[in-house]
Amino acid sequence: MSLPFGCTTAIIDDDGALPPITRRVTYQADVKQIMTNNCITCHGGPAPDAGLDLTTYEHTKASGQTGQLSGRMNNINNPMPQNGLLSPETRQLVDKWIADGYPEN
Ligand code: HEC
Repeated sequence: MSLPFGCTTAIIDDDGALPPITRRVTYQADVKQIMTNNCITCHGGPAPDAGLDLTTYEHTKASGQTGQLSGRMNNINNPMPQNGLLSPETRQLVDKWIADGYPEN
């Protein structure tokens, strides 16, 4: 179902174009709202798309740990959400949350 990940040219990492985030990024303060606004219409409810539920901390963290969360949010050829990449600032927040080890709050 997922595309081969050898295709690294599709992954854009434009975080370097932005000033680094120096504050703490947490699930409760940042990531939950991003998922709520952009993802859970498909990745929520009793039968979430791709079997992927993004409504809870544990499930969102688990997706981050597979590499798919950041991988798809930054995949210009196969983005999530499907209608196009979110803003660089929003993607940078999620990437920092992952890099910092998924702080909950
Ligand atoms: C309009 C519906 C829709 C929205 C909105 C959407 N997704 Fe998806 N997502 C899907 C569908 C359908 C699939 C399965 C097909 C595919 O992989 O492209 C999928 C697959 C995925 C996968 C791969 C699943 C896996 O682990 O193998 C990830 C990760 C993902 N979505 C994350 C997100 C994130 C994060 C957002 C919000 C930023 C989001 N999606 C928004 C419909 C959606």
